[in-house]
Amino acid sequence: MIQLDLPDSLPSVLADRKDLERVFTNLLSNAIKYNRDGGRVFVRAQRDDGRVRVEVQDTGYGIPAEALPHLCEEFFRVKMAATERVTGTGLGLAIVKRLLEVHNGYLVVASEAGVGSTFTVYLPVHVSATPAGAGA
Ligand SMILES: Nc1ncnc2c1ncn2[C@@H]1O[C@H](COP(=O)(O)OP(=O)(O)OP(=O)(O)O)[C@@H](O)[C@H]1O
Ligand SMILES: [Mg+2]
Repeated sequence: MIQLDLPDSLPSVLADRKDLERVFTNLLSNAIKYNRDGGRVFVRAQRDDGRVRVEVQDTGYGIPAEALPHLCEEFFRVKMAATERVTGTGLGLAIVKRLLEVHNGYLVVASEAGVGSTFTVYLPVHVSATPAGAGA
């Protein structure tokens, strides 16, 4: 089950719509495929100072601490019995990281083995280039 917690309004970010779809499709597919039977996924979005923060949290198997620094490397996949039948190429998070960098954003990963993981995307709020009072 996916539970959304989104505010009524969020500031704009300047981004390629398709790229952001790729980012969140990757994160959501991971949150689902590395989850347990009957597990849950939470998506929360919030303004955080000059950034928009979007968290994708799951109740899955989690990621061992020693694997965390390697998650966004191309072709890296965690080897653990619980997820050995899950298929993937190990490219999704490498792509997510690159796409966020292109948009001046970044990804933060927090995880506890056996409890779940939270992938948090930060993107800068778009500030209009129009000078105040220009009447444009
Ligand atoms: N939400 C998650 N919970 C637990 N492990 C995860 C999660 N997301 C990613 N991982 C681990 O990180 C590895 C890399 O993830 P990534 O999305 O880059 O590749 P993939 O899912 O294996 O393949 P692809 O996304 O290319 O189909 C995964 O193989 C998995 O071991
Ligand atoms: Mg993936």
